[in-house]
Amino acid sequence: MSETMGSGRGPAGSPPVTEQVVGQLQGADTRLMTIMESLIRHLHGFVEDVRPTAAEWEAGLAFLARTGSFCTPTRQEFVLLSDMLGLTTLVDDVNNQGPADMTPSSVEGPFHSVAPPRELGDLIAAGPEWGRAESAVIHGTVQDCHGNRLPGAILDVWQADDKGHYDTQDAEQPEGNLRGLFTTDENGEYWFRTVKPASYPVPMDGPAGDMLRAMGRHPMRPGHLHIRVEAAGHHTLTTHVFVNDDPYLDSDAAFAVKPEIIVDFEPREDQASIERYGMDGPYLDVTFDIRLATESEMKR
Ligand SMILES: [Fe+2]
Repeated sequence: MSETMGSGRGPAGSPPVTEQVVGQLQGADTRLMTIMESLIRHLHGFVEDVRPTAAEWEAGLAFLARTGSFCTPTRQEFVLLSDMLGLTTLVDDVNNQGPADMTPSSVEGPFHSVAPPRELGDLIAAGPEWGRAESAVIHGTVQDCHGNRLPGAILDVWQADDKGHYDTQDAEQPEGNLRGLFTTDENGEYWFRTVKPASYPVPMDGPAGDMLRAMGRHPMRPGHLHIRVEAAGHHTLTTHVFVNDDPYLDSDAAFAVKPEIIVDFEPREDQASIERYGMDGPYLDVTFDIRLATESEMKR
């Protein structure tokens, strides 16, 4: 018997049971077998590291069972769990690495729904938030990573209001409120009028909320808009636009903040600017230029 075997460890230093479980992987789907081997090795390593008591292991399994029982067609607690543990961001990152000049990707989140087509310059705030919240103009260009403008790019925009609510959560907002599909003009430019979005908490009434409380974490997401941009021949980009003065930028519950997608909401009071964008008074001006990569420029 070799020294390795004599120590009760497998060739990779793992316990015999780990090698036994991995050794029984024999499905035809090689990618799935790769995933399962890694999953088994990491989970076994976790048990070796933590050495949970039987009661702790049971509590962990009960937590996962409760997470499953919380899921409905409109509430996906496992997605929330993934978000709160930074896993959704990590999966997004490994699948969206492009050139240094590309606007960074950021997770889609759970609040996307079909948006109404709009004209450039349209006001997307048609609920009670208009007149109550700070108004804003969001504008910029869509370009490739070499500075070429991209006319005809489609921007799908969605955001919460100044109370942190999306239309799908709020009976006071009309359907499709604070959402819109915009097409860049012949210069690759876009602009629309809206309100400044507020930070909001993720749902805390389920197992993911229990987990956050147990970890001593808050549930807040910093104020943001979501934008998904599609342009022919380019990798579709889904990202956030974060409000630069938000107190939760350094502790986003979903870990979606990246420095390149934090933007200034600059106050504008001069009449020329107000008239240029058809506003009825002072507003917040936001420039957000978007750079897309081609599929062949994306790293695989
Ligand atoms: Fe959001």
